[in-house]
Amino acid sequence: MRTQVCIIGAGPSGLLLSQLLHRKGIESVVLERKTKEYVLGRIRAGVLEHGFAELMREAGVGERMDREGFLHDGTVIAYDNHQFRVDFAARANASVLVYGQTELTRDLYEAREAADGKIVYNVEDVRIQDADGDAPYVEYNVGGQGQRIDCDYVVGCDGFHGVSRKTIPETVRKEYEKIYPFGWLGILSETPPVHEELIYANSERGFALCSMRNENLSRYYLQCPLDHNPEDWSDDAFWEELKRRIPEQAAEKLITGPSIEKSIAPLRSFVTEPMRWGKLFLCGDAAHIVPPTGAKGLNTAASDIYYLYHAMVQFYVDGEEEGLDRYSEKALARIWKAERFSWWMSNLLHLYPEQGEFDRKMQRAELEFLESNESAQRVMAENYVGLPF
Ligand code: APR
Ligand code: PHB
Repeated sequence: MRTQVCIIGAGPSGLLLSQLLHRKGIESVVLERKTKEYVLGRIRAGVLEHGFAELMREAGVGERMDREGFLHDGTVIAYDNHQFRVDFAARANASVLVYGQTELTRDLYEAREAADGKIVYNVEDVRIQDADGDAPYVEYNVGGQGQRIDCDYVVGCDGFHGVSRKTIPETVRKEYEKIYPFGWLGILSETPPVHEELIYANSERGFALCSMRNENLSRYYLQCPLDHNPEDWSDDAFWEELKRRIPEQAAEKLITGPSIEKSIAPLRSFVTEPMRWGKLFLCGDAAHIVPPTGAKGLNTAASDIYYLYHAMVQFYVDGEEEGLDRYSEKALARIWKAERFSWWMSNLLHLYPEQGEFDRKMQRAELEFLESNESAQRVMAENYVGLPF
């Protein structure tokens, strides 16, 4: 088989790139190691920067997102039974769109299928060959049969545990990593959200986050030790702890219910450089990971796709390679700013085991400064809604 762009991974990155390229007449094949149902079964955040929402509209998959998504003009920050709002509209003249990643991925699958997009599921043993040469190809097995795709370019959208990043020689790759000394225990409950916007809470007992998927599907998180397991937490224990960590005015309104999903995720900051090696490009979690505190996971994936999509259009339509040559530099410049913001939000809101009293005082001063200073709120708002591409 031959195609122009071979994309590895049918998560949000791979699907969005495939759909955008298709609308410009650029052909791609997507290789996915799981089934579509498995991919859609992942529970992931969906706070979309305004630039990401625009990209979805440009891809022709923004209709349900605009109809069912929730526009948020701000967020609540809480500490010590006190809360304040950061107004994105007033401070950054923008908002974010809350629309679950599962629904966004579903919309992308539907669009690819409607366009007869080629997605090969249940692939195994994917191997990227000759990426640093002139004629790259990808070998893989499906249904016990060895297959090969010859292409112009390979794009690794295969997430943190994928094969693409590891295809770049260790002598070429430079990796940066920070592991956080806690995890996030998350639950999904078919209950109305406690507030119409998100509540990020710093408390003496640890971080908490109140989020949502729709008017009757809420998502809550508690910072927890890394050695905890979801089964260590009964629903009642979760709700009682959440009420202790958010302001009373919110706790009083909290509607609890049985969890329909409960999981613990570790927190990590990670970046690999460069994001290009010859004819191989990395996008999304294949190249970088952020702690979820700044809601940047999906948005950093979209950031890469924005740059690579425009670079590929420039190449295939205008015959120019400047965008491709500068992809890694431009993508990383924005990724590192998202890494900084996610690291800053994580430091602002969590209880660190090694923290001393002075550190807690610094955290409190930072929260009070954010509450009282318009410029501080503008900086936070501009980063949260998404810096310019
Ligand atoms: N071959 C084929 N497919 C693979 C391989 C492989 N060797 N390894 C991984 N995959 C697939 C996974 O099954 C998954 O469907 O690649 C896809 C990667 O998707 P994501 O991990 O969702 O990564 P990405 O598309 O970059 O989206 C990033 O998703 O994980 C969240 O928090 C993350 O919100 C962020 C967004
Ligand atoms: C979520 O809704 O899952 C969510 C929202 C905002 C975050 C992280 C997760 O910062």
